[in-house]
Amino acid sequence: MKIFIDSADIDEIKEAYKGGIIDGITTNPSLIKKAVDRRPGLNMKEYIEQILLIANGTPVSLEVIGNAYEDIVKEGKILFNMFNPIAGNVIVKVPVNPAITDVPSYDGIAAIKYLTKTGIPINATLVFTPEQALLAAKAGAVFVSPFAGRIDDFIREENKLAYDKTDYYPSDGWDSSNLKLDDNGVVSGIDLVSQCVEIFREHELPSEVLAASLRNPRQVREAALVGADIATLPFSVIKSLLYHFKTKEGMQNFIKDIVPEYTALFKGKVLEI
Ligand code: G3P
Repeated sequence: MKIFIDSADIDEIKEAYKGGIIDGITTNPSLIKKAVDRRPGLNMKEYIEQILLIANGTPVSLEVIGNAYEDIVKEGKILFNMFNPIAGNVIVKVPVNPAITDVPSYDGIAAIKYLTKTGIPINATLVFTPEQALLAAKAGAVFVSPFAGRIDDFIREENKLAYDKTDYYPSDGWDSSNLKLDDNGVVSGIDLVSQCVEIFREHELPSEVLAASLRNPRQVREAALVGADIATLPFSVIKSLLYHFKTKEGMQNFIKDIVPEYTALFKGKVLEI
């Protein structure tokens, strides 16, 4: 499973890429807002160009802001033409259903189809049902992004379960007096990811499932177990993937036990690294 960083914070991105295991970057308008709030007056174009270079050839998703077909297509082309020449790694992110009312809009799907045909790779975002994932894949999106954490939030909120944003929610759902809580047959965010994976495999759709809105290491593990192609993670979650109390304790003990005879092996050697 590939691991992306879900951030528009250049310092976090730089730090995360130092580990050598980051395969891409996803941004969205809220993440861009956070970055701007921290750096008032930043030059957006130059800032994004720097991010594209740090990504070193790995894909960077940049999201459109319009919700009508013409705007999505125009903005997708602007983003791609403006930024792809920098490092050849731009993916345009398009909401699967850009409607802001209960009346669904196919403008996102149609724009995904059109932009894909013009050679612009698309990440279909705000996917909350396997059906939306299927349509995005049929339209040609290279990445399809189910929002796992927000489905867990939704199920918990609908059922008045108290939670903190980073709390683990069981991937096989919550049993409440023999009634499994669900959102139209989806029992958790990871279940949503799993159903998207199953549909793509069953129908040999080439789109990759990009598990998004993951908030804790156990969800990341479960995204990997159900076959997500990619997981995009906040920097805090990337860091926490490496932690275990016993690893820290083991490290402390190893350091305590180092004998001078062993240390001597390394003394006086100068090597380029
Ligand atoms: O990639 C989607 C992500 O940024 C949403 O995360 O935690 O706000 O649901 P979250």
